[in-house]
Amino acid sequence: MTPAETLVKKFKKNRTLSHIVTRMAQLINDDESTLQDFEEVIRLDPALVARLLTLVNSSHFGLTRKIDSISRAVALLGMKNLHNIAVTDTIQHMLHSRSGFAEFSPQRLWLHSVASGICCKMIAERIFTLNGDDVYLCGILHDIGLIAIMEADPETFLRLIGQLQPGGPSIVSLERQLFLTDHCAIGYILAKDWRLPDAIAAAIRDHHSDGVGDIAPHSPTGILQMSEYIIQQLHYSSIKEGLAKQLAPSLAAHIRKNVAEYRVLAEDLPEEIEKTKNMYDS
Ligand SMILES: [Fe+2]
Repeated sequence: MTPAETLVKKFKKNRTLSHIVTRMAQLINDDESTLQDFEEVIRLDPALVARLLTLVNSSHFGLTRKIDSISRAVALLGMKNLHNIAVTDTIQHMLHSRSGFAEFSPQRLWLHSVASGICCKMIAERIFTLNGDDVYLCGILHDIGLIAIMEADPETFLRLIGQLQPGGPSIVSLERQLFLTDHCAIGYILAKDWRLPDAIAAAIRDHHSDGVGDIAPHSPTGILQMSEYIIQQLHYSSIKEGLAKQLAPSLAAHIRKNVAEYRVLAEDLPEEIEKTKNMYDS
């Protein structure tokens, strides 16, 4: 077993995305599955049903009629959207149930994950006129490997955070020294385990390989890396401010070419993040 697999095993032993949320992802990616299969899976967890109905009825979605059943929620919002709500809610619970310590705040990582999900979705929809549901999931889950490390080995995680300094070695190289693996490799194993689409798993695996390669801006990897760059500029960093973040030349050139659109996106982003954060925190 590789060091990454050992950490994943330890993480899953404690707590992971619930079985039902994972099953939902499998159904979304299975062409044979029906709306009914999806509803049946959600109904297995009455607490999830209640939570999902509360979330879809929140003012965030601005629906005029109250939704009182999962089938109606699926019909109005779509399976992918509902799955994304369930995953976001799970990540929120994972991070809010942990208390922070010096130099590390789980709430900050939560805000970073929301910011990334929202920014990815906005880039996909506004810049590339693509459906933003898949890349939203990519953003919300991209640092799941970090949560896995924190859960599986909190003491070494604490040392990692302590050693992370502006101008110092990158988080990935420190992780490789301390854990013989990194949160990108761990996130990739988890994404494959949850049967997320290959392009989404690859984006999670490559989200720190910044500054290298010729990455297509419209690919999930391109969108995720640009969102990481933008949200860092807006001070939504995952752990600490001032850690270096570089863009691959192809991504930097793309942003320069569309700078007016990205400027508007960056202006609108904080309000969108705040709205989403408030919905899950309430
Ligand atoms: Fe990361």
